[in-house]
Amino acid sequence: MRNNIDEVIAKVAAKLRRTVPEAAKNRHVPYASRAGKWIESPWNLGNSWWTAGFWPGMMWLMNALYPDEVFRSEALRTTELMTEEFRVYRHLNHDVGFMYLLSCGAKHKLEGDEQAKWDTLHAASLLMGRFNPTSTPRAGFIKSWDGREQLGYAIIDCMMNLPLLFRATRETGDPRFAAVARIHADTARKHFVREDGSCRHIVEFDPETGDFVREHGGQGFSVGSSWSRGQAWALYGFTLLAMNTGDAGDLATAEKIARYFAANIRADGLIDCDFRQPEDVCRLDNIASACAACGFLELAKLTGKAEYRAAAEKLLDGLIDHCCDFDPAGEYCGLLTHCTAAYHDDNVGTHTNITYGDYFFVEALCKMKGCDPMLWM
Ligand code: GLY
Repeated sequence: MRNNIDEVIAKVAAKLRRTVPEAAKNRHVPYASRAGKWIESPWNLGNSWWTAGFWPGMMWLMNALYPDEVFRSEALRTTELMTEEFRVYRHLNHDVGFMYLLSCGAKHKLEGDEQAKWDTLHAASLLMGRFNPTSTPRAGFIKSWDGREQLGYAIIDCMMNLPLLFRATRETGDPRFAAVARIHADTARKHFVREDGSCRHIVEFDPETGDFVREHGGQGFSVGSSWSRGQAWALYGFTLLAMNTGDAGDLATAEKIARYFAANIRADGLIDCDFRQPEDVCRLDNIASACAACGFLELAKLTGKAEYRAAAEKLLDGLIDHCCDFDPAGEYCGLLTHCTAAYHDDNVGTHTNITYGDYFFVEALCKMKGCDPMLWM
């Protein structure tokens, strides 16, 4: 790796020590930053927006890197805010894995907090309750969202929510959580992962029979394209699956996706928003890049293969060389520039700083430093 990780971590800590206290003055969990201010989630969904767990997660990670009351107290404050969303309930969806593993799950794991354990199990029960077993034996899927038009929708992102179910089985001894995760993962392998290792974003199933109905384009360029963050969710998600199951087939799927992803890293180490976007378009997504770096690093540990470590380092060098705002008084309060939430929706953020990109960047730095508490497990 060209860059010195200790120097990068020192810059990250210096910046966040300055900007995190600004976030603590707000009632909302930051979603993004712009013009020196933290910005709340889109669509007025407050702390029910699916990304809300990444901020407390990043605070827990920063506290692991640099034990510091600034980070710990912000982690505690915003983890507590997340528990209020159980009462609101109506906006919660399959993304309770992202939301609660990184907030309550982290508090339980790192501080042994008993109530945080129950809050994490509460989230796991909500996720299991979204499972549709369909009329086909040993089949089914976890429903992503709740609209009547979307009863048959599942999305590749859910692979990152499944570790919550495995954790609940470990915690309680109840095999139902892991059984649901197993069936959903088998459905994802069959219907989302293509022969070349690329992945679909949204698949619609018949909610009665579980039969494949059609693919939707989702947040990528189009139907049949290859949205890079979806590829990153699949890469890290199937790697986490293999870590949870120890199954050789799960690992083989993770490696197939990883090889495809590695072949699509640009020469400058950056990642296009969609690997099949038009060649004359410059649209990057550094959230995908940082998330994939984490997936590659875990896959390198699992397989012992240097090529995955090299892919992660190429991604991190690309981010550090071209797309980090380390200036404590810079345009962004956060770290990464050029994060893109969705290819066709500029309302949720295009080429800007978004906190879940920063979360994965910090997670990757923790892994490089050897102090990642591994909040996904
Ligand atoms: N889970 C939606 C996204 O990755 O933006």
